[in-house]
Amino acid sequence: MAPIIRRTRSNVILLFSFLFCTVILYLIVQNQYQLRNALSYATRPLWDSDSGPKDIIPHYHAEGLKADAHTCQLHGWEERRNNVRVLDAVLMSSELDLLEIRMNELDAVVDYFLIVESNATFTGLPKETYFAKNRARYAKFERKIIYRFLPGYPLQPGQSAWDSEAHTRNTMTTLLRSHIGGFPSGTQSVVLMSDIDEIPSQHTVELLKACDFGTSIHLQLRNFLYSFEWYLGLSSWRASANLWNSDSFYRHSKSGERVLADSGWHCSYCFRTIPEYVVKMRGFSHADRIGGRIDLLDPKRIQNTICKGKDIFGMLPEAYSYLDLFSQMSLDPLTSAVGLPRYLLENAEKFRFLLPGGCVRKE
Ligand SMILES: *[C@@H]1O[C@H](CO)[C@@H](O)[C@H](O)[C@H]1NC(C)=O
Repeated sequence: MAPIIRRTRSNVILLFSFLFCTVILYLIVQNQYQLRNALSYATRPLWDSDSGPKDIIPHYHAEGLKADAHTCQLHGWEERRNNVRVLDAVLMSSELDLLEIRMNELDAVVDYFLIVESNATFTGLPKETYFAKNRARYAKFERKIIYRFLPGYPLQPGQSAWDSEAHTRNTMTTLLRSHIGGFPSGTQSVVLMSDIDEIPSQHTVELLKACDFGTSIHLQLRNFLYSFEWYLGLSSWRASANLWNSDSFYRHSKSGERVLADSGWHCSYCFRTIPEYVVKMRGFSHADRIGGRIDLLDPKRIQNTICKGKDIFGMLPEAYSYLDLFSQMSLDPLTSAVGLPRYLLENAEKFRFLLPGGCVRKE
């Protein structure tokens, strides 16, 4: 009797192991994107490092502090003697609200706002020309605006999104060159290169305008998610200020090791309505994050995620140290709106969705 029972038991164990393995295998196949991502994000601090600039320059500012010889000296710089013009150059996205906040923040210190806009995404899909359609909203700045429409087409065989991004950036370079070429000789041109959602603060640009910071410096920005309620840290560095010369070109990559601390705000995924989140999530560069999970696009889930400050793809945050990873996994909402763009606070009702307690989005 005994051997038979043992045999049956081992068969049962075998059967269960088989079923168990099948289920695990099935889950792995079904969720390979999520698993791969979870694994790579969870181990990122071990194999990846933030490739940003390393030489952080301390930044001094208090309300009313003038950008004079003394302040320049505090930062290790000489006061400029040349005439200087400041050009703010952005590629248009759909972020009309942030553009309005940006232009108002920078109006006092920027001479020209250069905007390049296409009717196609980098992947060649048709896209609205948001700026052209809403230009009246920026009428106050009309005499400073230099706008270039860039006709976009479906990608040709062999062409990638990187090619069309490079082409768009080249268009901005050409626009900058032709414009700067018309300035009186002896004029220095400081060009701000950043995305619309990377907003240098007015006093930072005032400082960079007054002081000779060299040829190029990155701007470290306070990094926010969804609104100014969710603060991620000082992890944004791609924005830069550049003294334009004949070799300069419009870029969003590392141009040097120097970065000026605490120079403004970077508000990622700071959209007014839920459909904008869906469009962004469907976008090319993040398509792999969706990984076939259409449920991620459910408006109720998105709304809930925004109000909780969780990752919109239900993934781990992109962090380069475990300290950052853990602190970003459960963010505390900010209750301070001190030190935000002035125009945002002056128009707090209009921009409620960007402020603490304003997480509910229009459907
Ligand atoms: C963009 O505009 C150009 C010129 O108006 C047009 O020929 C082209 O088809 C448009 N592209 C898309 C993707 O709609």
